[in-house]
Amino acid sequence: MNITVTHKLATRLLEAGDQPVSGQQLAEEFGVSRTAIWKHMKELEEMGYEIESVRKKGYRIQKSPDSLEAFLVQSGLKTKRLGSRIEYLEQCASTQIVAHQLAQEGALDGTVVIADLQTEGRGRLMRKWDSAKGQGIWMSIILRPDVPPHKAPQFTLVAAVAIVRAIQSITGLEASIKWPNDILFGNKKATGILTELQSDADGIQALIIGIGVNVNQEREDFDAAVKEIATSLRLESGQAVNRRKLVQEILRYLEIYTEMYIELGFGPLKELWEGHSATIGKAVRARMTRETLEGIAEGITEDGVLQLRTADGKLHGIYSADIELK
Ligand code: BTN
Repeated sequence: MNITVTHKLATRLLEAGDQPVSGQQLAEEFGVSRTAIWKHMKELEEMGYEIESVRKKGYRIQKSPDSLEAFLVQSGLKTKRLGSRIEYLEQCASTQIVAHQLAQEGALDGTVVIADLQTEGRGRLMRKWDSAKGQGIWMSIILRPDVPPHKAPQFTLVAAVAIVRAIQSITGLEASIKWPNDILFGNKKATGILTELQSDADGIQALIIGIGVNVNQEREDFDAAVKEIATSLRLESGQAVNRRKLVQEILRYLEIYTEMYIELGFGPLKELWEGHSATIGKAVRARMTRETLEGIAEGITEDGVLQLRTADGKLHGIYSADIELK
């Protein structure tokens, strides 16, 4: 069985949505017999698709498997740059490692690496990121913006806004952002972002934006260490969430907002970020490597630095810290 035709067929039917496509039409489009089309349909059913055969009208997909294979994510993807190349891996140590490698080999702006399972998923501050098979979105996006390296942290904030908007659009859920990049429901974390940089004397060569979204975990799926502080979109919404649609929507918003950033600068995105922020105006504790500060988070600067006012009236710029909402 020619897997490419099967994939193309799935893409064709997914793009047709509710509209059935006749076997005759498919046979003509793909230059094969109607019997061959029927065999490809059986192949798709074995792959987990539910295909309805509508009398006299043709075939339509009722349910597609919850898979993030590249051809599936690309069918119906409404972007120009992001996702024009997608590397899907059933398993890898970390999509960040793969993306760094691809970026070094010259992968273009907008290249995306997605894995169904990460064995060594990593978070900020050298922490481990649980990335169980099939339960979340584990992806890294390569961007090559023409901006100086000190602007890189702004992209984390832009990505956070894109993810919150995408979650809202697909699930109706309103998440909030804890500076710099945790996406929360209440005080439980559903998403983390890890932005890494490849730069040299000429500036940024590549930004690797790693996004981890807990999508379909049940409470018992979380490790004991994070059970009390983690949540998933399924737990928040009470229903399973389609990972493919969410990946497509994250890429769509990320493209819109990175373009807005390049055209208009950080100003409008800072406003969007503050609109979703769980931190601004709150009493927080900021744990840094050398000290811990407590105070009111007053806002973020144009560079994405958190402004913390301590009880003695001093304003501190926080570049990197673990923030606890008090
Ligand atoms: C954090 O909140 O600490 C950031 C978590 C980032 C996790 C994602 S999952 C995809 C990509 N690959 C990794 O190893 N990490 C990021």
